Amino acid sequence: MDRRLPMAAGAAESSDIPALPHELEDEIERLKREQNAVVLAHYYQESEIQDLADFVGDSLQLSQQAKRADADVICFAGVHFMAETAKILNPKRKVVVPDLDAGCSLADGCPPGDFARWLESYPDHTVVSYVNCSAEVKALSDVICTSSNAVSVVRALEGHKVVFAPDRHLGRYVARESGRDDLVLWPGTCIVHETFSEKKLLGLRARNPGAHVVAHPECEDQILRHADHIASTSGLLRYVAETEADAFIVATEAGILHKMAQVAPGKTLIPAPPEDDTCACNLCPHMRKNTLEKLFLCLRDLTPEVDVPEPTRSRAREPIERMFELTS
Ligand code: 13P
Ligand code: SF4
Repeated sequence: MDRRLPMAAGAAESSDIPALPHELEDEIERLKREQNAVVLAHYYQESEIQDLADFVGDSLQLSQQAKRADADVICFAGVHFMAETAKILNPKRKVVVPDLDAGCSLADGCPPGDFARWLESYPDHTVVSYVNCSAEVKALSDVICTSSNAVSVVRALEGHKVVFAPDRHLGRYVARESGRDDLVLWPGTCIVHETFSEKKLLGLRARNPGAHVVAHPECEDQILRHADHIASTSGLLRYVAETEADAFIVATEAGILHKMAQVAPGKTLIPAPPEDDTCACNLCPHMRKNTLEKLFLCLRDLTPEVDVPEPTRSRAREPIERMFELTS
């Protein structure tokens, strides 16, 4: 069977992709050494990619790892805004991605031009942007946050009027947790975290008494209100590993179940059900654009590359560094 897939956007034509999975994995390991490349992967990547990565983490951990990377090449197996963040923080490294088209519905739903015009209505507000946005939107922001530190970032801004973009579900959650009912929210959403069904979640919980519901704060309120624990991907992993319960219903992208099974062996992990159970809506279509074949091509050809030109890069770096300062 021909295992060749369409080329990574921007990658050279290839006819020599190893045909067998173990050969492909061996070649990826060889290329990592040969190119002096570090592979960073998000928890939502397919399990084979996570297993080949040098570091797997949530958005915050990945940005910290990218900042301190000293390899010649950072190969970012995640989505575009994550690779941009790596380039912003460590511009001397070459940053490459398996697929340049791996975007994010939150970043796509907040075009910088529209965002700049919207901000004109809030001239005296501090602009807090969730890291899931473009470099241009970061450059328009005062502080960046991730799902693991959004509440502390907003709490640190007591006394300031705040606009929060681009995820309104995360924004609503942060407003509640920080006691700030005055947050102005940009109306963006994540297509994956909006797919879960409250009715089916309740049915699943009734059939699994004792199971804890864990949810990412990008989920809608009707899911979050049933959650025993709400946290970033790394926070959910920690909770599942450390909590006494035997079973967990997991309301986030299903790629995380791979790492959860590793950190919580023997526990029952049940993906929260999407409204439409004929689709694989709990898999992020952007994250899933990355495949082992594209990872191989990207490491072999060192393309497609992600660059963030000046002055956007320097402007975008400031609010990210402010996040590190506020939450260190
Ligand atoms: P985390 O920062 O929790 O890893 O979330 C990233 C993301 O894209 C969630 O959809
Ligand atoms: Fe963006 Fe949602 Fe995919 Fe995360 S899961 S990368 S927020 S589209």
